[in-house]
Order: sequence, then structure tokens, then C-alpha cells
Amino acid sequence: MRITVAGAGNVGLVTAVCLADAGHQVTCVDTQKEKIEMLEKGHSPFFEPGLEPLLEKTLSNGKLRFTTNPKLAYSDAEIIFIAVGTPAKKDGSADLSYIYAVSYSIANNIENNVIVCTKSTVPVGTNDEIKQIFQYGKPRHLKVDVVANPEFLREGSAIMDFYLGDRIIVGADNPEAAAIMEQLYLPLKIPIIVTDIRSAEMIKYASNAFLATKISFINEIANLCEKVGANIDEVAYGVGKDKRIGESFLQAGIGYGGSCFPKDTKALVQLAGNVKHPFELLESVIKVNQHQHSLLVVKAKEMMDSLKGKKAAILGLAFKPETDDIREAASITIIRELLEEGATVTAYDPIAIPNAHKLFGNSIEYTTNIRQALKDADFAIIATEWEQIKHLPLDTFAVCMKEPIVLDGRNCYCIKDIQRYPITYVSIGRPVIS
Ligand code: UGA
Repeated sequence: MRITVAGAGNVGLVTAVCLADAGHQVTCVDTQKEKIEMLEKGHSPFFEPGLEPLLEKTLSNGKLRFTTNPKLAYSDAEIIFIAVGTPAKKDGSADLSYIYAVSYSIANNIENNVIVCTKSTVPVGTNDEIKQIFQYGKPRHLKVDVVANPEFLREGSAIMDFYLGDRIIVGADNPEAAAIMEQLYLPLKIPIIVTDIRSAEMIKYASNAFLATKISFINEIANLCEKVGANIDEVAYGVGKDKRIGESFLQAGIGYGGSCFPKDTKALVQLAGNVKHPFELLESVIKVNQHQHSLLVVKAKEMMDSLKGKKAAILGLAFKPETDDIREAASITIIRELLEEGATVTAYDPIAIPNAHKLFGNSIEYTTNIRQALKDADFAIIATEWEQIKHLPLDTFAVCMKEPIVLDGRNCYCIKDIQRYPITYVSIGRPVIS
């Protein structure tokens, strides 16, 4: 099929590359000229495991092309995916300006009947508004079907998730359009759920909100474990064995980050408020997460009285491993608060430093060498569970640091292993080792 993907971000680019690899003729369009030029040379603007090899392959076999030209992108497409950003506005609601701009551009440039399929996470009702744009903006003789097709890719494993996702949601009010979408996805052998548009939109928000709730829930249990002398590792294992609860997303830590959970939970709270049905449970989930981001700075202050003049090593900047994305990462809150307390910061990350530099400039030091970050540090905070950190020989802390005080926000090490080394070790929901 001739497919166009609008937006070359995490979702759009992965979708474009994977569909091109499946044999479709794909055009990926974005308004950012530099991004498109970079992509045309086979370079991804962000790190995603396995993406660049597929990008190079599909560019060289002619299945994928990039453009900034909307006419070229939309005129003869059979399916157009909208995968542009929906960032949070100041009040937490989703900013839909990119969605609307793309919709108008599609309406102005199509020359064939087309299915417009929204992959971006959009508040319930948005696809109905998109339909209105086409109803009044498209050439009269053409037919545009709007389908809600929310995406469940995770950064860091997006390619794998594309091929091995748990389900595909197709929200459509025209069965013919739904059938074409089913046909497109059939080769993936992933269960396809066809539903109405508004339910499809809600499935995406409900999924992310539920996962965020699971994380804040286990984090609160972890905080309680510390108070009552239980161990969150044991508790999460025991709880997760109940199939109704499930083992995943019970990893306690310093809270969720990234471009999705923080934004989507806030947008759902906003949406609920708009229809006069306050979502108090989700409001608490957000509050717990904010508290969790600051937790280790509070603990460091309690342990050392004052952090003024102390040298802090921050291990991990990315919001999770296998990505260079630092959006809403716990590391951001931690670094800001440490600087406010008068500490100096040296941050380690294998790939996220360029993004962190855009935010912190020269107010902190950066290194891709863990030992360098730990050198002469008064304390270390682990903010991302990178494999490089998890596999660090544990004597490194005592060897490199001035004071081997380690505050582990991702429970990277086994308590039994840590006990063999002269380290003061504070983690989440587990006994303090000193
Ligand atoms: C999340 C969802 O998992 C995807 O299904 C969804 O498509 C995506 O948002 C989106 O809406 O686009 P992502 O943000 O890439 O994906 O990453 P996750 O693996 O879900 O992790 C999010 C955050 O939760 C990370 O900061 C991670 O450290 C944290 N987390 C995750 C925990 O603290 N504990 C856990 O047990 C799991």
C-alpha cells in the first residue's frame, strides 16, 4: 500500500520504518528540515535500538522516503498515519495544535480517497474534531475515513513492540475502513481489536494511566516497607505472582518519567475535570510520582545534614535504559534540587548527555565513564538502571568515591551482594546497609 506517516518522532519514525520493511511504499513527512535531511542520510535523530539498520535498509531498497513537502506526502496516499506530538500545555491538557495543522494540510493536499489514522495519543473526542476538519476542508468529491489507532510502543524496545505487541486497537465508525486497517496489520499476527473511535482513544489513556498507577502503587508500598521493616523485592514478587495482578510494572523506584506517562496522566485528569468527574485516584498517582522523584535528595539531606559543597555523582540521566530521552526523567528533578542545595554534580550516562547538556548546560559536569563520575564523590545517586551500572564491580564505589554512600533509585543491586562491601547503601523499599 502507499502509506504516509506524518511526524518523524519516536512513534512516527518507527511506524514508517517498520511498515516500509514489511514491503509497503512509505513516505514520512515532517516540518523540520534538518531532521528530514538527517533521516535521508540514514541517521536517526534519536537513539532506538535496531532503528538505524532498518532505516538504512528501507532507504536503500526504495521502500521509504522522507520529505517536508505535504503535496508529495499526501496527494496519492491510501493510508495516512498522524503521529505528531501532543505535548502537555501549562494546565496539563494536551496541545493539539500539531494534530490540527497536519489535518488541515492533509485536507488541502489529498487527491485520492484516503484513510486518516491517528496514532498520536489524543483526548477522547479529538478524532471527531479531525473528522469535522475533513468534512469541511477536503475536496468535495473525495472520501476521508478517520480511524483511531493508538500506539503502545515503548521507547527502547519500539521495533520489537511493533512486531510483537499485545494488541492492535482500531477505532472506526466505518466497517470498510476498519477492514482495510485489519488487512494492513494481519501479517503481524497480533490480536486486532476493532471498536468505536472514542473507546479506542480512551483505551490508550486508560492503559497508560493504569500502568502509571501500578508504578505509584508499588512505590507507595515500597515506602511503607521501609517504615515497617519489610522488603519490597519480596513483597512485589509475592504480589505479582497473582495472575490477576501480574508481575510486570511492579519495579519500585524513583518514579516514572518519559514523554508519555507524565503527559498522559495529566491530560486524563484534565479531561476528567472538563466533564466534571474529578479523577482523584489518578491525581494521587501523579502526586506520589512527584514525591518519588525527590525522595533520594531528601534522604541524602537527612544523612548528610547539608549538601552544600558536596560532590554528587548521578549515575544515569535517561528516563529509562536503552534510550537517550531525558524528558520528565527523575534525574532532572534530582539534579535541579541538588544544585539548589549547593552541591556540585557530575553525571554519567552512556548516550543521553547531549540531551542533558541542552537542559543543564555547563551547570554540571558530564562523563560517559562511571568511574570518572564517582571519582572523589561524597555520594552517588543511581537514577537509571543501565546495564553498565548494574554490572559495575561493587568495589568500584569504595575505590573511587571519597565517601562510599550510594543512593540507588532503581534497586540495581542485590542486598546480599552489597553487604560484602564497605558501602552505605540506601535503596527503595529495602533495608539500609551501612
Ligand atoms: C509507555 C508505555 O509502556 C507504552 O505502552 C506506550 O506506548 C508509551 O508509554 C506511549 O504512550 O507512547 P515508555 O514511556 O516508552 O512507554 O516506557 P515504559 O517502559 O513504560 O516506562 C515508563 C517509565 O516507568 C520509566 O521511567 C520507567 O523507569 C518507569 N517504570 C516502569 C517503573 O518505574 N517501574 C516499572 O515497573 C516499570
